[in-house]
Amino acid sequence: MKELLATVKENRQIAEGIMAITLALPESVGKIKGGQFANLSVGDSAFPLKRPLGVCSVNGNDVTLCYQLKGDGTRKIAQAEAGDKLSVLLPLGNGFDLGNAKKVAVIGGGVGVFPLAAVVEEYAGKVQFYSYIGFRGRQYACLTEVFGNVGELTVVTDDGSLGAKGNAVQAFADDLGKISPDLIISCGPPVMLRALRSALKDNGVTAKCLVSLEERMGCGIGACLVCACKKSDGRNARVCKDGPVFDINEVEL
Ligand SMILES: Cc1cc2nc3c(=O)[nH]c(=O)nc-3n(C[C@H](O)[C@H](O)[C@H](O)COP(=O)(O)OP(=O)(O)OC[C@H]3O[C@@H](n4cnc5c(N)ncnc54)[C@H](O)[C@@H]3O)c2cc1C
Ligand code: FES
Repeated sequence: MKELLATVKENRQIAEGIMAITLALPESVGKIKGGQFANLSVGDSAFPLKRPLGVCSVNGNDVTLCYQLKGDGTRKIAQAEAGDKLSVLLPLGNGFDLGNAKKVAVIGGGVGVFPLAAVVEEYAGKVQFYSYIGFRGRQYACLTEVFGNVGELTVVTDDGSLGAKGNAVQAFADDLGKISPDLIISCGPPVMLRALRSALKDNGVTAKCLVSLEERMGCGIGACLVCACKKSDGRNARVCKDGPVFDINEVEL
């Protein structure tokens, strides 16, 4: 993990309220795994805390992060222009480890698709992916081609404006008999992760399921405990350091 002063190469809108920022790092930070994240400075001293954003793609020393305009920090990041310098700490967290899995189901919702895009690119050609990606509507859809390029893709939207009307967990559950995955990976809002856990239980799925959690963060490196989550055994875990990827049965959602 390194803290570097990166140069903004590009910062552009890719869907409604969604931006992609590409940072040129001044040096290599070693291998970045899909599911690891960066802590990105907002570039304004009025915002002392960096913002955690999943790494979406890596190309040499260029790293792309996709982000939803949510509050003041991300809106400020959206104003960064090519040539601007932003401090960034990366790679952080554990990332997804697909082990020896050969058939992997990918379930992503909304901004949860960004870290999953890095995973499918990292393992492209080595694993058969079946991706189920959900958005609120067509205007929020992005990166679908990344998933379509590496395996079978089902896109759904809440309003039916792109793909079938429905949610990613239901689309995955409908296909379970057909795909029988040996690993399931997911990232999305807590309500989606809870629905996924129920669907796995209801359908008697015993395959391992890894999920990436989101918590408010401070330091991003395991020192401040702002990001604590509860494990099923009652102990606490730090999402930034022990995660953000956990076994779905290991954590309270
Ligand atoms: C490991 C991890 C990976 C993430 N990856 C992405 C991603 O790839 N794309 C994306 O759009 N979003 C991602 N998020 C969520 C993103 O960090 C927040 O949307 C962002 O920090 C909001 O900042 P803000 O200043 O615009 O919002 P505000 O609500 O004004 O933020 C105020 C404070 O709360 C923190 N905060 C607010 N929401 C969150 C949140 N959901 N998670 C963590 N901290 C939050 C901010 O960092 C800031 O310190 C990720 C979060 C985590 C923990
Ligand atoms: S954000 Fe500080 S310990 Fe996780």
